Amino acid sequence: MKNVLITGGAGFIGSNFVRYLLEHEPGVHIVNLDALTYAGSLENLRNLPDPARHTFVQGDIRDRPLVDMLIEKHKLDTIVHFAAESHVDRSIAGPAAFIETNIIGTFQLLDAARAAWMDGRAARPGVRFHHVSTDEVYGSLGPDDPPFTEQTPYSPRSPYSASKAASDHLVRSYAHTYGLPVTISNSSNNYGPNQFPEKLIPLMILNGLRGKRLPVYGDGRQIRDWLHVTEHCEAIRLILKSGVVGETYNIGGGNQPTNLSIVKQICALLDERFPESPHCPHERLIEFVADRPGHDLRYAMDTRKIRSTLGWQPRQTLAAGLRETIDWYIGHLDWLKAVDEQGDYQLWITENYAQRG
Ligand code: NAD
Ligand code: TYD
Repeated sequence: MKNVLITGGAGFIGSNFVRYLLEHEPGVHIVNLDALTYAGSLENLRNLPDPARHTFVQGDIRDRPLVDMLIEKHKLDTIVHFAAESHVDRSIAGPAAFIETNIIGTFQLLDAARAAWMDGRAARPGVRFHHVSTDEVYGSLGPDDPPFTEQTPYSPRSPYSASKAASDHLVRSYAHTYGLPVTISNSSNNYGPNQFPEKLIPLMILNGLRGKRLPVYGDGRQIRDWLHVTEHCEAIRLILKSGVVGETYNIGGGNQPTNLSIVKQICALLDERFPESPHCPHERLIEFVADRPGHDLRYAMDTRKIRSTLGWQPRQTLAAGLRETIDWYIGHLDWLKAVDEQGDYQLWITENYAQRG
């Protein structure tokens, strides 16, 4: 791994990965290709360690001539593919962009890698295409079902998860048909610094701070597995270094809170941090709103494969991670102003569900 293309590196996980790789791989040069959609921002790339080893290119992964040019010009040997439309609610409101970026975009990247790296079925030595995917491709679990393993059949149920499943299938087809050296990781829900405030945890922190309502969909009993973004980055780097080509690795935080319990934990942490706030107790702000159509009940990950083969395991507890994440947002309200184009912290999802609820 010398010259690495990171797609979507101005988004939440991608920007954390750029930072992580610059810190941990002193020999690596990064080309960061990102279209800067609503979810991407150069604010996420401020104060990088060793910025001389990072080249930002604003562009679309579907732009094949651009991708071909970048692979050739920068002698790219590794692609770590994060770029995607990533928000389930947006995929329900407007699925087209998910098909374009997640399916067509992944296809264009794979095909560019094949053209540049493959000679017949033989790949140039040392090349790797790593695809970043999600637990949502496996579908939804009942309360007592065992967690998803790498063998769980795909059963995506939202336009977002269906588009990610399609991209995973394309990646495997390029490995099987053309011999492209790929790895795939399927991670559970991430949280941590730089997450755009449309997703559950930052939305609740920022609405709570401002005394706005905390919209819990349905009865709030849905369950996710939450992973701190830095631990996700750690797992991806390990897969790049020691993962077996052609393999898939599940990554998860090993916890199973309900959405309502997460929101209550955030409220309690805000009460503790701001005992003088007029919004205490923050739980008063919780409001049950209309449920998400087709809402998946539960995701859970069996991570024995990555634990036993690569020695990765999550270490941070959700309670510690939430506390740290709240501190990060409090310390970066200027970041919030900069990434929120509407200026008034007017969070898309709150408005959307206010109309539906
Ligand atoms: P994000 O929405 O924060 O960032 C996505 C980035 O991709 C943005 O910077 C955006 O500008 C860029 N992008 C979008 N369309 C593009 C295009 N056509 N060309 C180039 N760039 C484009 O997403 P995230 O939460 O950081 O997720 C990153 C990846 O991880 C995604 O593939 C997602 O499916 C996967 N994932 C996310 C989570 C999670 O909890 N956030 C969990 C598991 C897997
Ligand atoms: P989200 O962060 O959108 O991630 P995903 O849908 O990919 O898991 O949502 C996490 C959970 O929180 C999901 O069950 C939907 C729920 N949720 C709410 O109850 N209220 C909200 O305002 C948001 C954004 C999500």
